[in-house]
Amino acid sequence: EQARHIQQTLAEFRLSKTQLLEVKKRMRVEIERGLKKDSHEEATVKMLPTFVRSTPDGTENGDFLALDLGGTNFRVLLVKIRSGKRRSVEMHNKIYAIPIEVMQGTGEELFDHIVYCISDFLDYMGMKSARLPLGFTFSFPCHQTSLDAGILVTWTKGFKATDCEGEDVVELLRDAIKRKEEFELDVVAIVNDTVGTMMTCAYEEPTCEVGLIAGTGSNACYMEEARNIEIVEGNAGRMCVNMEWGAFGDNGCLDDIRTIYDQAVDENSLNEGKQRYEKMCSGMYLGEIVRQILIDLTKRGFLFRGQISETLKTRGIFETKFLSQIESDRLALLQVRAILQQLGLDSTCDDSIIVKEVCGTVSRRAAQICGAGMAAVVDKIRENRKLEHLDVTVGVDGTLYKLHPHFNRIFQQTVKELSPKCNVTFLLSEDGSGKGAALITAVGCRQREQEA
Ligand code: BG6
Ligand code: GLC
Repeated sequence: EQARHIQQTLAEFRLSKTQLLEVKKRMRVEIERGLKKDSHEEATVKMLPTFVRSTPDGTENGDFLALDLGGTNFRVLLVKIRSGKRRSVEMHNKIYAIPIEVMQGTGEELFDHIVYCISDFLDYMGMKSARLPLGFTFSFPCHQTSLDAGILVTWTKGFKATDCEGEDVVELLRDAIKRKEEFELDVVAIVNDTVGTMMTCAYEEPTCEVGLIAGTGSNACYMEEARNIEIVEGNAGRMCVNMEWGAFGDNGCLDDIRTIYDQAVDENSLNEGKQRYEKMCSGMYLGEIVRQILIDLTKRGFLFRGQISETLKTRGIFETKFLSQIESDRLALLQVRAILQQLGLDSTCDDSIIVKEVCGTVSRRAAQICGAGMAAVVDKIRENRKLEHLDVTVGVDGTLYKLHPHFNRIFQQTVKELSPKCNVTFLLSEDGSGKGAALITAVGCRQREQEA
């Protein structure tokens, strides 16, 4: 009887192939809305132009600084790119913490902190006087009008610093560098992490024309035909589009598959009503969905002897790395209990079985709907090129994709099933998106020289 109730609860998360095909179809509709001039303003999937018009060709050269802000880690990097026959990339980087007070304080504090970290890094490398060109990986939606201008549309994930939305983030960075009066830098490009990842992977594998992040947040980019990007002038060639697909569903188009637990996660978040798809499929929120289900099952007396502990009431306890451990098949149930114990949850053996099943169900749905989104993207590229069959590579990064024991497999299977006319290869980015940002910066510098 109890088992039946639990299965009923989880059934809402189990999507049929028909439902997934429907998700794919709706993503395609939103893609078209974002690309068209008439509907771009109200579109939820924004399809933001990036002004990146090609993937790397090996002629990129020089020394660059890169920043990587918006994922699990904030990094400052020095990237040395050498072109020619023995082309190579050498990277040095340092990770810095961004305290939550800074993520959610004032914009000035945030950018002063960033510049403080750059300063520390330049000291560390002994390069204070170099005036290097810089590529800024900024993993949030930005409305770009050129490679080096990006107006923050809205914060997402765990960021909420004041006075940044609606502002050009490159200017905010330049202002903070001026305030510090310690060193000069030339900010050449602002880059979304999906785009950085695509470029990093494309440097090794030229068929890579799509970027995917399945990490703290969820998003994708791909090379779109310039003629289809109506808000940018010019019809020749291609341009990379940062989809910002995390906002898919913000117009209600996914409401039929959202559960009461998804709604609870949304209500508990920093940005209620926004990023609804992301909240169903990215690392920052999967644990929260699990927590909401566990609270409900406990209230109904099916778990933890009906006792809701303080721990269970705590936001963010189930980080991606814990979910990944709980779902690992190499782990015996006793070890699952040990993990729950670590989190402060006293479980019986039966409890641990239920918790593991809840985690598995939530992450499976995440992988499947993310796969449905990707299926829409690769089929769009195939149709753009009027091909019966498309071979394409997707560059991927993100902790959920890398750490979770099942996400990547289920995701790939789903893409295959939902887009049978595409043969998609997935390539893990080993070097993050900083390398890609440096490659874009190299191209940006060359363009500037040509124009001068
Ligand atoms: C990293 C990229 O490798 O992956 C970041 O360099 C990106 O820019 C990140 O944001 C995404 O993963 P996560 O899981 O850290 O959000
Ligand atoms: C969020 C951001 C997006 C980013 C993604 C992955 O969805 O809005 O810009 O690419 O997270 O980090």
